[in-house]
Formats: sequence, structure tokens, C-alpha cells
Amino acid sequence: MKNADEKYMRECFRLALKGKGKTFPNPMVGCVILNKEGKLVSKGYHKKCGENHAERDALLKLKNNEAEGGTLYVNLEPCSHYGKTPPCTDLIIEKKIKRVVIGMKDVNPKVDGISQLKKSGIAVDSVLREEAEFLNRIFIKNITKKLPYVVLKTATTIDGKISTKTGDSKWITSQKAREEVYKMRKEYDCIMTSSNTVIADNPKMEHKFKCILDKDERIPKESLILKDGNIYIATKNNTPLKNGRLNLKSVLKELYKMGICSVFLECGGTLAGSFLKENLIDEVFQFIAPEILNDNSGSSCFNGDSVLKIKDAKKLKIYEFGKIGEDILIKYVL
Ligand SMILES: NC(=O)c1ccc[n+]([C@@H]2O[C@H](COP(=O)([O-])OP(=O)(O)OC[C@H]3O[C@@H](n4cnc5c(N)ncnc54)[C@H](OP(=O)(O)O)[C@@H]3O)[C@@H](O)[C@H]2O)c1
Repeated sequence: MKNADEKYMRECFRLALKGKGKTFPNPMVGCVILNKEGKLVSKGYHKKCGENHAERDALLKLKNNEAEGGTLYVNLEPCSHYGKTPPCTDLIIEKKIKRVVIGMKDVNPKVDGISQLKKSGIAVDSVLREEAEFLNRIFIKNITKKLPYVVLKTATTIDGKISTKTGDSKWITSQKAREEVYKMRKEYDCIMTSSNTVIADNPKMEHKFKCILDKDERIPKESLILKDGNIYIATKNNTPLKNGRLNLKSVLKELYKMGICSVFLECGGTLAGSFLKENLIDEVFQFIAPEILNDNSGSSCFNGDSVLKIKDAKKLKIYEFGKIGEDILIKYVL
């Protein structure tokens, strides 16, 4: 039973991922339904915010009572309240499902699906909780912290440098790596960068929503980054200061209020270091080019703290790595 439960839960994860980048502020959810003989009879997933939840999508495809006495797999606890759609628990009960297997409990306090199902005599089990939580880490951060999820992208030499002491930085990584970055940006609600990076590189950074941290409004009006998309410039006039700099948490809170669930941060070592020191980064995507600068006066990808003991270094966990063209991409969670 455990192996079968894991197999069908993995199928839910696969289906859930079809909604990647389209479900925010909702989670990514997939659902699989077996009949009482254990035959797979329906599948569904949450396609985008406002559309049917995964369970409803799968349950509405059933013919007559074909899932009566069967099992429903879903990677997130079914909802039990009226939101944009009616409660999924009602439909599960109506279709006479006997057992529900979930990946994780919903962190939304309005959801009480497990007890609703149990009250109706439906058995509820859980499987692959850690994987289910990892899949919906953006949603969990949004609901529990009321902040957007932050991914920092950096492109470095193998000695962790992003530019020489003269500020020369183009290009460390290959064209293929840069194309990969263009694709990644689309998966996040907002890209964020700094005044220094805009002034140094004049990047275009095409995106529907861009946030620039520019306390003293130093960036030139003709900067390419300002040419398209919605632009939010955080300055000392709209953001509180902390130790003389923009308060980064306040900027993130403001973005969350604007409906931004995820931020893709592309900046130099100063801002990256401040974000890291304040524990505001959730993940790091590091492109590493097979190059060595061999000069300590070049800029490092993180430069925000004075640390005397190696034991005090920030600890990360690698969850994915691979080769992109000639470079390596490592993805870490903090
Ligand atoms: N290799 C890469 O992946 C990559 C990516 C991007 C940039 N870069 C390179 O990075 C270099 C720029 O690096 P940098 O270290 O000078 O600048 P940075 O880290 O991009 O930005 C620093 C600036 O951010 C602003 N900022 C706002 N709030 C802050 C806070 N709380 N803490 C710290 N900074 C805050 C400050 O400017 P205000 O006072 O004006 O607000 C500060 O001067 C450029 O040469 C660029 O090419 C490399």
C-alpha cells in the first residue's frame, strides 16, 4: 500500500507541476482517483487561480458512481470552505470516495478538510509530506510569512567573483546560461535589482513587473530597464530606512501587498549580502563559469557581513545541479 500511495502521490506532483507559474497566489495541486478495484479512473490538476481545484477537476470527469468506494490522491489537504469555488470536501463526500491520501496539510487556517472528511467516515492518510511541502514552498512562505518568496540568481567565476576591481563583468557565463536566465525570470512575479547594477550594466531585464531599489533616485531616466513592464522603484520617499539603507523587509511587504508572490533577485554582492544577512533569501541559483579571476579585489557575489568563524557561514542545501552549456547551475535552499 505504501509503495502504491507514493506512486500515485508522485503522479499528483507531476500533474500539479503542469500549473507551474500560473496558479499564484494559489498552490500547485494535482489529483488522481482510483476506483474500488484500484484502477485509475480520473486525473486532474489546478490550472490557474480562479479555475477548479485539482480534486474538483478530477471528480467532475467521473462517470456516474465509478469512484464509489475508491481512493482519491491529492498533494494538498482538500478545501472545506467557499472561496472562488465551492468546498472540494463536499464533492468528495458526494462521490462516495472511501479513502483520501494527502501530501500535506494546508497552511491556510480557513482549511479544515481533514476533519470534515473524517467526520463523514472517510479515511485520511498522508504520504511524502516533505516533497509535497517542497513543491509548494512559495505558497507556504506567502501564507505563513505574508512575504514573497525570494530567489537570488548570481553568475560567478569558480572563486565566487562577479566583476573585476574596475567593475568589468561582461560576460562571466555563456550565452546559453544567460538564455536560461531569461526563461527563469518568467516563472516569478517580479524581478528585482539595484541602482548600482542598473547604473553599471544598464540591463534591459524584460519582465511584466520590475522592482528597482534606488534610495536616492540615482538611476538615469533613459535606463533600458525602464522601457517596458510595470516598474516599482523603492526610494527613501516610499520606503522606511534601516541603518541608512532601504528596509528590505518593508520593500518585500509592499510587493506582497501588490500581489507579488515571488521575486527573482539579480544584483551585485552588496545587496545580495544584505538580503542574506537579514535572512530574506529563500533560494540561491548560482551559475558557475569554468573561470578563475584570481584577484581578491574583484567583487564577490556576497559581500554583506564580517564573519570570523567558518561555523558562522550561512548553510545551504543543494537540491538540483546540472550543466548549462559550458557552465554549471546549482540550486540551493537556505
Ligand atoms: N554576476 C551576476 O550575477 C550579477 C548580477 C547583477 C549585478 N552584477 C554586478 O554587480 C555589480 C554591482 O554590485 P554592487 O555590490 O555595487 O551593487 P548591488 O549589490 O547590485 O547593489 C547595491 C546597492 O543596492 C542598494 N540598496 C538598497 N537597499 C539596500 C540594502 N538594504 N542593503 C544594501 N544595498 C541596498 C544601494 O543603493 P541605493 O543606496 O542607491 O539604494 C546599494 O548601493 C555590477 O558590476 C554588476 O555588473 C552581477
